[in-house]
Amino acid sequence: MQDIKTKVYELMLTNRRQKGAYQYTLPSPYSYPYQWLWDSCFHAIILSYYNTGDAKKELLSLVAKQFESGMIPHMNYWQEPQKTKFPKIDWGRKNSSSITQPPMLAYATWQIYQKDQDLEFLSNLYGHMKRFYDYLLKERDPRTHHIAGILNPDESGEDDSPRFDQPLNLPPKQTIKQNYKKRLELIKKNRECNFDAPFCMKNFFWVKDVPFNSILVENLKLLSLIAAKLNFDKESKYYHQKTLLIKNAMRKLMLEDGIFWSTYGKDYKKIKVKTWAIFSPLFAKVATEQEAKNLIKNFFLNPDEFYLPFILPTTSKSDPAFDPKGFWRGPIWMSTNWIVFKGLKNYGFTAEAKYLLDSSLKLLEKSGFREQYNPFTGGGYGARNFTWGGLVVDMLEN
Ligand code: GLC
Repeated sequence: MQDIKTKVYELMLTNRRQKGAYQYTLPSPYSYPYQWLWDSCFHAIILSYYNTGDAKKELLSLVAKQFESGMIPHMNYWQEPQKTKFPKIDWGRKNSSSITQPPMLAYATWQIYQKDQDLEFLSNLYGHMKRFYDYLLKERDPRTHHIAGILNPDESGEDDSPRFDQPLNLPPKQTIKQNYKKRLELIKKNRECNFDAPFCMKNFFWVKDVPFNSILVENLKLLSLIAAKLNFDKESKYYHQKTLLIKNAMRKLMLEDGIFWSTYGKDYKKIKVKTWAIFSPLFAKVATEQEAKNLIKNFFLNPDEFYLPFILPTTSKSDPAFDPKGFWRGPIWMSTNWIVFKGLKNYGFTAEAKYLLDSSLKLLEKSGFREQYNPFTGGGYGARNFTWGGLVVDMLEN
């Protein structure tokens, strides 16, 4: 185990970049040579096991780019790399994108605080977090239904996930080019309305995503704890209250026959595409014990669904969109494994969590730090020297 810990740290150091007083980590130097929001949160979680100072710097560079509205962009272009294949996208601004990503910030902050009890750091980040989560609670929920919307598939962190095929009007079998074209068209429309979230969602892409909201709930819970540590008791209660409201709304609007589905459109039409997202409510304890049991029995442990030679595929084998090589359409990603791992632990599925961790370690051993892995062969795809495999360090400690 010491070996994997050493390798993770070496990778984190190799991918580290400096810009003036700021420090951040590239998910992959050649394929992803900028700073990404949820990646930086993962990096901070990983780095907290080695050096809390570095973990803090990772988050401080992230919040330095916060918008006036409170939104934190999903990409920051701190500096141009010498060589990359990453396409230039017109976000209508120069140094960052204009959309966000799953709000894992409070989680990462709390994790660092657990390691060194640095109240000053909590206090430095609190104002940024408050503005970010308030933005999500207000701008992303214009009808006050207590569920947050995303305005572009990339905001989910799972760019080509089949959960977004229906909203994008794409068939389950598609090429990466077709999908990219649709997402670029959407960005063009978003640019024309200045990424005004309520308008963009209502008119172009009105999706409420299950993992995004599960992550929001868990993070608001931790934000509430952080507020309490800083003696902001009223705000602590407020954020706690919000977790209950979102949980209830998820149960009311997303749940059917024991499964939480992402929705689209004004009337919350359920997108019944079977992806790993059905397990994500366990991360924030949104599902009941019985619902969790059924999910594990019928889907996690089912070889016709998710229990493939390597786990956990991002899309179920039984889904028409399943493609063991498709981008977010079948292969295993380490971030989703980490989220499901935490969820399994929450409900006492210790053996299943261990199996998931073992499978993750096997993938790293077989194919190294890759972006994605084939669930049948364990072969690696996409970016190389990709940081997310480092999340096993956190899984090993929990
Ligand atoms: C891909 C992933 C996204 C990630 C980014 C950088 O776009 O879909 O989740 O943040 O790469 O790693």
